[in-house]
Amino acid sequence: MTSTSQPTAVITGASKGLGWAIAFALAARGWRLVVDARHVDGLAAGLPGATVVAGDVTNPGHRAKLADAVRAHGRLDLLVNNASYLGPSPLPSLADHPMTELRLVYETDVLAPVALIQSLLPMLRSSRGTVVNVSSDAAVEAYPFWGGYGSAKAALDHVTAVLATEEPELAVYAVDPGDMRTDMHQSAFPGEDISDRPRPESVVPAFLHLLDTRPPSGRYRAPELLAVPA
Ligand SMILES: NC(=O)c1ccc[n+]([C@@H]2O[C@H](COP(=O)([O-])OP(=O)(O)OC[C@H]3O[C@@H](n4cnc5c(N)ncnc54)[C@H](OP(=O)(O)O)[C@@H]3O)[C@@H](O)[C@H]2O)c1
Repeated sequence: MTSTSQPTAVITGASKGLGWAIAFALAARGWRLVVDARHVDGLAAGLPGATVVAGDVTNPGHRAKLADAVRAHGRLDLLVNNASYLGPSPLPSLADHPMTELRLVYETDVLAPVALIQSLLPMLRSSRGTVVNVSSDAAVEAYPFWGGYGSAKAALDHVTAVLATEEPELAVYAVDPGDMRTDMHQSAFPGEDISDRPRPESVVPAFLHLLDTRPPSGRYRAPELLAVPA
């Protein structure tokens, strides 16, 4: 494949968990990747050929470096806003949620994805590309102690829905991956045994299904996508 014929994706938060699992699967399919995380030790070795940009999605300078890396590739087909901040562990009630932490949850889970979408939209429009915003069941269920993170993911869902109306040539998805055995999930349930939760790799086929079949823009739950016969 020539470099310009290869589909290209940006995946935030790709050093572990779901972001890593999606990145690994797309690399295996021949995608070019621009990936980030704040701590990227071993990421370049694990994803040979990927452009690894160390940094924090809440930092405008870091986001500019991601956009520069994409422009250097000359095309963008997919943006996966996966990096996320849960908030303090154990999760606080809204009555006790420190505002500095709540701001950081919103900066990471809402404002950074919107900012990345804004800067990458011209390239996504050129390819009639796909935006995947990783959501959560906490966006739609009112779980006690999940009000900070859950309301941020609800805002991200709404961003997704409005963007879909404004950019009808794009595929714009919010995807609830379901519970997964990851560091974020462990920090939501400190001290609990979470070994019964599925590995993030088990959810990846749901994301690949979206890319392969390009259903209408909208909100999807991974278990439903996984139940669809290939
Ligand atoms: N795990 C679940 O049960 C579950 C359920 C529903 C939804 N989700 C969603 O699934 C997505 C992935 O979560 P996960 O469970 O896979 O989490 P994870 O294993 O903790 O991985 C999070 C990834 O994001 C990176 N990251 C975090 N904050 C970042 C920042 N500010 N800037 C750049 N990178 C950042 C982390 O690396 P660094 O720390 O090095 O930056 C890491 O690579 C999230 O959107 C989450 O809300 C998860």
